[in-house]
Amino acid sequence: KESPAMKFQRQHMDPDGPSNNSNYCNQMMRRRNMTEGWCKPVNTFVHEPLVDVQAICLQGNITCKNGKPNCHKSNSSMNITDCHKTSGSKYPNCDYQTSQKERHVIVACEGNPYVPVHFDASV
Ligand code: ATR
Repeated sequence: KESPAMKFQRQHMDPDGPSNNSNYCNQMMRRRNMTEGWCKPVNTFVHEPLVDVQAICLQGNITCKNGKPNCHKSNSSMNITDCHKTSGSKYPNCDYQTSQKERHVIVACEGNPYVPVHFDASV
């Protein structure tokens, strides 16, 4: 079974990106199985080495959007791609807008080892 840490990597890690291609989100949301059963409405991919994203769990501790205390904000800005489902698109034809950004990343971490399990926001 997929662990929360592996699910985070599937949904949010793409160290070899970004491809400067407006179809990036359409391809990646499908390839990473986020368009099965529904179109996941919003999702962010991080284009940095896995070790650098795991290290965020040791960086500034903040409250998550859901009120839990286990979020951490990256010290540095990171290359990311935000994927937003377009308003007109309907399952099973999931269509996404692709936007490349450089932002500080906020993730929730859990477990031992203490690793990212949820992408909370970028700021
Ligand atoms: P994402 O939120 O990264 O898009 P997800 O599929 O919603 O991905 O999975 C988030 C996972 O992080 C869940 O296993 C969630 O646990 P719960 O289902 O028990 O909420 C976990 N998680 C741990 N801490 C969290 C937090 N502070 N906020 C949101 N999810 C958190």
